[in-house]
Amino acid sequence: PRSVWLSRHGESLYNLYGRIGGDADLSPRGHQYAKKLPELVRQSVGDDRPLTVWTSTLKRTIQTARFLPENYNQLQWKALDELDAGVCDGMTYQEIKDVYPEDFVARDEDKYNYRYRGGESYRDVVIRLEPIIMELERSEDILIVTHQAILRCIYAYFMKKDQSRSPWMNVPLHCLIKLTPRAYGTDEERYQADI
Ligand code: F6P
Repeated sequence: PRSVWLSRHGESLYNLYGRIGGDADLSPRGHQYAKKLPELVRQSVGDDRPLTVWTSTLKRTIQTARFLPENYNQLQWKALDELDAGVCDGMTYQEIKDVYPEDFVARDEDKYNYRYRGGESYRDVVIRLEPIIMELERSEDILIVTHQAILRCIYAYFMKKDQSRSPWMNVPLHCLIKLTPRAYGTDEERYQADI
């Protein structure tokens, strides 16, 4: 690809309450980001060629993409849904620590390999993203609106970082990342929305 654009969804109500997973709507700030996103994208693309938008199947990514221009094709991928936290889905980190103290420690010790009970690990996510990466490699002008863990893995792939470091990559909310692969490495530009 010439460039790939990446963004997390806008702040969701679960982000606001500190809950993981789920399928919450955007918060008022999240909606503001959705309204800002077309402008951020326009700035960073530089001309008016349309992008193709890939979201997950979850409401927060679809809501984030909804003000993008009508000539942008949008596609929803289940493979872009957030890391499945299994029995911990919908809990806060404090609740997980209280209810599953051993799991909390195990995850801290090996976050890449730790698999939530009935859910996934980062390692699992890297495997399920393989078809996405393959499709991405042969596409141009794709904007991906997805979730923190997923974005970390895609980011690590393009930045040629070891996947085992992906669980700690910094991908803030309300920030559009433009990655441009080059012969010597990948150029990165970040556009932070001031909301
Ligand atoms: O809190 C937002 C979120 O996307 C959760 O849904 C997800 O479980 C978590 O981030 C992933 O981040 P970490 O692997 O650091 O817990």
